[in-house]
Amino acid sequence: PHIKVKKICCIGAGYVGGPTCTIIAAKNPDIIVTIVDINQARIDAWNSDNLPISEPGLDEVVKSCRGRNLFFSTDVDKAIHDADLIFVSVNTPTKTKGMGAGYAADLGYVESATRRIAQIARSDKIVVEKSTVPCRTAQNMRYILEANSKAGIRFDILSNPEFLAEGTAVSDLMNPDRVLIGSLKTESGRAAAASLADVYASWVARDQIITMNLWSSELSKLAANALLAQRISSINALSAICEATGADIEEVSYACGLDTRIGPKFLKASVGFGGSCFQKDILNLVYLSESLHLPEVAAYWKQVVDMNEYQKRRFSNRVISSFFNTIYGKKIAILGFAFKKDTSDTRESPAITLVNHFRTEGAQIAIYDPKVQESQIWIDLTEPGVMDDLTEVQKQVSIAKDAYAACDDADAVIICTEWDEFRDTVLDYKLIYDHMKKPAFVFDGRLILNKTRLEDMGFQVGTIGRAT
Ligand code: NAD
Ligand code: UGA
Repeated sequence: PHIKVKKICCIGAGYVGGPTCTIIAAKNPDIIVTIVDINQARIDAWNSDNLPISEPGLDEVVKSCRGRNLFFSTDVDKAIHDADLIFVSVNTPTKTKGMGAGYAADLGYVESATRRIAQIARSDKIVVEKSTVPCRTAQNMRYILEANSKAGIRFDILSNPEFLAEGTAVSDLMNPDRVLIGSLKTESGRAAAASLADVYASWVARDQIITMNLWSSELSKLAANALLAQRISSINALSAICEATGADIEEVSYACGLDTRIGPKFLKASVGFGGSCFQKDILNLVYLSESLHLPEVAAYWKQVVDMNEYQKRRFSNRVISSFFNTIYGKKIAILGFAFKKDTSDTRESPAITLVNHFRTEGAQIAIYDPKVQESQIWIDLTEPGVMDDLTEVQKQVSIAKDAYAACDDADAVIICTEWDEFRDTVLDYKLIYDHMKKPAFVFDGRLILNKTRLEDMGFQVGTIGRAT
């Protein structure tokens, strides 16, 4: 017999906790869902008309259940106290200091959330790891919970990794490929998994809700991200061969993707992958492999990240060499600053790396992105705590109000994010061309432009995975 969940608390109102628990609330009107965070500004934004994250379709779902059975609050303790199931959906960034710096996941936030649960709990709790964590983290959580809680309280720990992608979070959550629940193979572990499965079964078919052992579930999340990123690095490695030979990466990717064993998705060559997770999770896997004394395995996965760095560097070098190796004083328009379209998230965005490369070369840079806030761009381009750094950056970088303003009088236009509004069927590239310096260059880092069409207008076109 397993309990029916009535109250859910989600610790962490970020890109994952917010949308995931909003959908859970929308699909389970009989469950009270409270999403909590220590960040007051973030909670205030969730309670306003201006949500802290931008995802197609999210506003409508939040509005449909906020104040009914969905609540956003900074009262972490009350939400923990009342809940029978608690998602831990806090950030797990790469450690910047100490043992494992640059590779290992910083589990400090997971630990402090876990300690809080232990301290506050007065009744049995199902604790669910939603954050992406190294394999066997649940064991450490159990240790902390059991060492710090009142006698007689049961904690069942589940792993329930999230597979949503930003920009498509709502549709990914509404129609997931699978929901994964890992538990101990004990009676109470299985019962806890069944309770969580019921929550998802309100809208996900039972055969898509998969249960397995806790460690497999934890590792499957790192594995899935590593495999996805590996496909991108593989196609990007091939794009370099295409540029040198006259093969076309889109044709190669199409030809390979038709093989049903390979499949067509995630084979789009690009200026490099970004986002908060691919690099972080692979480095985490590299660290895990090193700790398990598996250096060959670590080196294998590390190469996926190295190839991504190489791709970004290769792309900026191509821009620089097109200008006879100097872009000093030249104006470069950067179209798109988010790490992918339909999100305002800029974490690990390749645009940041490119702007830094171009700054080092002395270029003048104008940036336009339809969703990213100006203040975020300045944060991303400055070193925290360095005096006058912003003033220095602003000598070379400006932010434009639209694509036309960014491209006005520019020597080169660079597509960094594949926003639909940058396609040549939407944006008036003839107008842009007329207002640029000549020769006018456009570099397509996202394969969204029709090369021939732009060449007919007079542009010099540099495309990832195609010879010029
Ligand atoms: P995020 O930084 O957007 O959100 C995390 C939130 O947790 C922050 O608002 C922070 O203030 C809050 N927090 C931290 N410690 C807390 C505490 N002790 N009590 C209360 N709140 C606390 O991070 P995110 O992008 O939502 O990612 C969360 C986890 O989910 C990570 O492990 C990530 O790897 C994983 N993940 C992310 C994505 C994605 O698309 N972003 C997808 C799948 C999995
Ligand atoms: C990724 C995974 O797709 C999700 O399943 C996972 O839950 C999530 O990481 C996570 O753990 O955080 P996300 O990073 O939001 O999601 O977005 P993706 O669509 O995977 O794109 C990541 C990066 O790869 C973007 O910069 C994108 O432009 C790039 N990409 C993607 C390519 O360059 N080529 C492709 O073919 C696909």
